[in-house]
Amino acid sequence: MNNGRSARPTRAIYPGSFDPLTNGHLDVIERAAIAFSELVVAIVVNPQKRNPMFTLEEREQMLKECVAHIPNVRVDHFRGLLADYVQAQDADVIVKGLRVVSDFESEMSTALMNRSLSNVDTLFLMSDAKFSFVSSSLVKEVFFLGGDVSPFVPHVVLDVMSSKRAALKRS
Ligand code: PNS
Repeated sequence: MNNGRSARPTRAIYPGSFDPLTNGHLDVIERAAIAFSELVVAIVVNPQKRNPMFTLEEREQMLKECVAHIPNVRVDHFRGLLADYVQAQDADVIVKGLRVVSDFESEMSTALMNRSLSNVDTLFLMSDAKFSFVSSSLVKEVFFLGGDVSPFVPHVVLDVMSSKRAALKRS
């Protein structure tokens, strides 16, 4: 007896630049890890249209430390098309977070394109309202202009950001 619930394991992929991971990302990861039997947090190696501030190794290390408490979460990275990666991983679903209505417009066409390319659907989780204004790019801007971003990123990330700022000041 399984109460009518499917026992089939579901592998979900949560892709992103994570440059750097924010508390909004972490909230989506923690909730998706409850919904799916396995969650792969997949870092895109070369985000389009921008140079990442953190190396792949830094982004991957920060993520691994921040999800170490969630047993069914794995951190990985990919190059090229997400659709190819999800197929190679034999994933059942792509997970994305939606913060505000304006996110929906681009995410909808991306989701449809990814489904057309891979036959894998994208499921959206609404970001917690307290993170609706939090993005990696805003966090970086505020931090490097001297603002306090401690409410918006895990302390592991804050430590790496502080080291990077100190190294930049020295150079
Ligand atoms: O955190 P981001 O920068 O919003 O994540 C964007 C990401 C990595 C999900 C997106 O850029 C992506 O999927 N890149 C892989 C390249 C790709 O598949 N492009 C076509 C999308 S239909």
